Amino acid sequence: MTEENNQELRRRQAEFSKKLHGEDSATKTGLKAFLSKDKSAQKEAVSKYLKHWDGKVDTEAENARLEDYNESTHAYYNVVTDFYEYGWGSSFHFCRFSKGENFNAAMARHEHYLAYMADIKANDLVLDVGCGVGGPAREIVKFTDCNVIGLNNNDYQIEKAKWYAKKTGLQDKMDFVKGDFMNMDFDENTFDKVYAIEATCHAPDLAKCYSEIYKVLKPGGRFAVYEWVMTENYDENNEAHRKVAYEIELGDGIPKMFKVEVAKDALVKAGFNVLVDKDLADNDDPVPWYYPLTGDWKYVQSLGDLATFFRTSYLGRKFTSSMVSLMEKIGVAPEGSCKVTEALEQAAVGLVAGGKSKLFTPMMLFVAEKPLQTDTDQ
Ligand SMILES: C[S@@+](CC[C@H](N)C(=O)[O-])C[C@H]1O[C@@H](n2cnc3c(N)ncnc32)[C@H](O)[C@@H]1O
Repeated sequence: MTEENNQELRRRQAEFSKKLHGEDSATKTGLKAFLSKDKSAQKEAVSKYLKHWDGKVDTEAENARLEDYNESTHAYYNVVTDFYEYGWGSSFHFCRFSKGENFNAAMARHEHYLAYMADIKANDLVLDVGCGVGGPAREIVKFTDCNVIGLNNNDYQIEKAKWYAKKTGLQDKMDFVKGDFMNMDFDENTFDKVYAIEATCHAPDLAKCYSEIYKVLKPGGRFAVYEWVMTENYDENNEAHRKVAYEIELGDGIPKMFKVEVAKDALVKAGFNVLVDKDLADNDDPVPWYYPLTGDWKYVQSLGDLATFFRTSYLGRKFTSSMVSLMEKIGVAPEGSCKVTEALEQAAVGLVAGGKSKLFTPMMLFVAEKPLQTDTDQ
């Protein structure tokens, strides 16, 4: 894409975001945010997101999804961000749970662990690739006292991330910028460390995405990522396996789920030394990572988690879908809202099936280092 086209795309997306979410959009969450959308823009966003997911998994359909990754993901997060915040909070990722550990503590621990593995130190300049509304960035700044720049393709989320940073008094330690992780604007060798949490799975080409990260990381710096991948058990030619991957792609706005070796090869191809490659979901934890999506009450670890668990569980999702359907029918909720809850339901089904069968993991941990001396220096 030429620089001119890129600028035009950004201008168009920013304008669309203003129209869809309205003024003061960052301050609204939940029902208030959901009901204040511009109805025609919401309809347009839903159809932009869903236009590539018509059940087809042939090469042509897949190529169309890969090519349109930017607009498609932008549209996806325009329509799901309110649901994510309502159901999950302001960190949009999965985590491990230990016995007796409540949801927020477990989520924070997962973030701390990545910061630790990335070797993030006080005052490091750190890039958060695909930062959502900044939940992990705020936690990692509090944990390490580093400085974070959050990179995000979605204008609505950036507004929210900035607003939360201010609300929590962390605005001097962080900033959030619009950009595409497939084509970064930062200068070479800018960041001491880089991390990404469940975001680079939206990349149409992991080698290109990781090479952008490599470019902006300082020599000797670490990149740590929780990657969404299909595990080595996955067979793309097995129809049942492909169905699981497709549900995850559709419901999470992902152009294509890649296998674990594709991700590892991509890191090496980008020039990294891979220090750690470990599937954190491949364990004997008594409480599985996908428990909030199961509706299995036996896994709930604290009374305080009951509300979160209800919202994310099968029953809670059915309740939300019915309410959304009713609101759409009587014209209160924008057209297309039901299609979004249906897609999110498919995602939940695919994620649990993928988790139980170990065909999928949302926490493939890679820790990679940019060599101090690169080939071009020699
Ligand atoms: C599942 S969310 C995870 C957000 C965050 N890491 C967290 O854990 O809360 C994925 C994020 O990746 C961002 N993203 C997707 N494609 C992107 C792209 N091409 N460039 C930059 N960000 C992108 C989305 O806008 C979204 O914020």
